[in-house]
Amino acid sequence: TRLAILISGRGSNMAALIYASRAEDCPYEPALVTGNKPDAPGLALAHAEGVTTAKLDGKAKDFWTQLDETLRAHEVEMVALAGFMRIIPDDFLAKWEGRIVNIHPSLLPKYKGVGTHKAAIDAGDKVTGATVHLVIPELDSGEVLGQVEVAIVEGDTPETLADRVLIAEHQLYPRVLSDYLGRALDPDWITEEVGRRAL
Ligand code: GRF
Repeated sequence: TRLAILISGRGSNMAALIYASRAEDCPYEPALVTGNKPDAPGLALAHAEGVTTAKLDGKAKDFWTQLDETLRAHEVEMVALAGFMRIIPDDFLAKWEGRIVNIHPSLLPKYKGVGTHKAAIDAGDKVTGATVHLVIPELDSGEVLGQVEVAIVEGDTPETLADRVLIAEHQLYPRVLSDYLGRALDPDWITEEVGRRAL
């Protein structure tokens, strides 16, 4: 499966997806890394790792059309958001339904949006984590494909907690994406569970 990874920043989850794809049994290949920030550090890393990159400017008026065309030009079949800090418009999503996944640093449905680690600490939670989910028009609300728990320890700050959750994210994302693609390629699962999702 040809995978595009969309980023806005450092791209550590992108790197985790790329490195995991080097295992022989990985069901996806990173076909493209792009995003909304032409100077995102993750783009330089992807390039150095031999992955095709496209520099798109999120400020361009026709950004979403450009993105859609770029994905199609690279024959992308699946899209993984990895620290991609733009809300995806409905008409774009409609074209890629069931084919966009995201990673979010909380145990969804808890703590949607930004500031998840501070919210978990402030709430006195003992456990937080990360979630990989399908992207639907409503923010951080699509079907949960997989989660991992991470303990919150005494003295954790949003920064120390973020660092630890990130380690868990890097393991979760490639695994859950691979599982999802494995299921999506099974014709019985398509008819039973995803219906009109045309994977
Ligand atoms: C990650 O914590 C991810 O869960 C969130 O944004 C952060 C991106 O980090 N959506 P990176 O660019 O993957 O290093």
